[in-house]
Amino acid sequence: MALATPLGISASDVAALRAAARQTLRANRRRVPLADGRLLHFSCPSPGHYPFQWFWDSAFHAVALAHVEQEAAREELLLLFSAQQDDGFIPHVVFWDRRQLLRSQLYWCWMQSRGFGLPRSSALIQPPVIAAAVERYVQVTGDVDLARQLLPCLDRYFTWLGRVRGSASDGLLTIIAPWESGMDHKPSYDMALGLDTPAPPRQVILEPRMVDIANRAAGYRNALTRRGRFRVVDVLVNAVYVDGLRSLGRLHQLTGPAEAAWDQQAAATERALIARCRGKDGFFYDLDRRTGRQISVRTVGGLCALLLDGLDGEAAAPLLNALADPAAFALPFPAPSVAAGEPAFVPGAQHWRAGPLIWRGPTWINTNWLLIRALRRRGLHLQADSLARASASLVLGAGFREFYHPYSGEGLGARSFGWSTLIVDMLAGV
Ligand code: GLC
Repeated sequence: MALATPLGISASDVAALRAAARQTLRANRRRVPLADGRLLHFSCPSPGHYPFQWFWDSAFHAVALAHVEQEAAREELLLLFSAQQDDGFIPHVVFWDRRQLLRSQLYWCWMQSRGFGLPRSSALIQPPVIAAAVERYVQVTGDVDLARQLLPCLDRYFTWLGRVRGSASDGLLTIIAPWESGMDHKPSYDMALGLDTPAPPRQVILEPRMVDIANRAAGYRNALTRRGRFRVVDVLVNAVYVDGLRSLGRLHQLTGPAEAAWDQQAAATERALIARCRGKDGFFYDLDRRTGRQISVRTVGGLCALLLDGLDGEAAAPLLNALADPAAFALPFPAPSVAAGEPAFVPGAQHWRAGPLIWRGPTWINTNWLLIRALRRRGLHLQADSLARASASLVLGAGFREFYHPYSGEGLGARSFGWSTLIVDMLAGV
């Protein structure tokens, strides 16, 4: 008889998922000889589609690797921080293997970076999950030494975020291109791009490129947060930022001495997020900085406000209701990236010419991981377990894919996709 784990998944399925996760991250592994003589490795998100080191993908890979290959998790984090710049900034993509640039990615890399010649890294950010990832790595492995080594770098990175991307008026981070949230074509951006939603696929693909061209022409200057063509207070980015500030506070406490400033900043930022992004119906909506208005499209990003410790039970209820509502997020394979009732919701794959439209309906494993983290912190273990089981059935059924059909569970997008291995952390529980 197969033994069942606390989540009701058989021990043999859990073992198979762990082995497959390890194998996938190994297959995606790339070696990087650094100028200082160190040789480090990272796992790219997917060898076919994404050959470089992406910021939040790497953070998620480190969380999964902490369970199955600790040394590889350490290297993944060390390599990511090796790309940190003098002012504290960490790019959203580091183009380690520059031969790949010439093969397929030249337009993207060049448009998203500064200067001339072949870029080394992008000039954009991604959601700052890195602090939560380091904290989780330490919880899983007990390797406090690495936390001690990385904490000054994390401090510098979060200081940079607050100083450069945080608004002087409310402290909330502004993103200057859709790619910065990691949720490229999320339909709330249709309106932030000056389009109606749902915008025609052609415009969904082309309009962000106009933003890239304008940002590049402006040299990706910091002032783009005040004057750029695309300026959004993204709920997921800011909720992850607050969560990261709290992780920083706890990591300082762990390694000593404690540092109260991060918690104070978390509390202030979370108050601002609640004041500015909570809609009349209690759901959380991205804010268009150009108009000062909320963009009323319900996406999984809004649900991530559940990460805010300062959101009390009453204020969290509309989000939890939406998560449990079959007309919104409670689909057979939750949680879809867009609520099912939204006009822009498309559950399957969508393309315009060669380009895929992503984050407009399918379910992604990394946002489920964020939601499970939030639910567990709120003590909502039944809901967290149920989302972990749904995520496991997606991966057991379709393998490590980039995203999944929320009605059929079909695997979609890139194959051998790194962060879907987060399932091993979800199954490991609290
Ligand atoms: C896509 C995703 C982004 C991710 C990247 C690499 O652009 O939208 O979040 O980091 O692929 O996997």
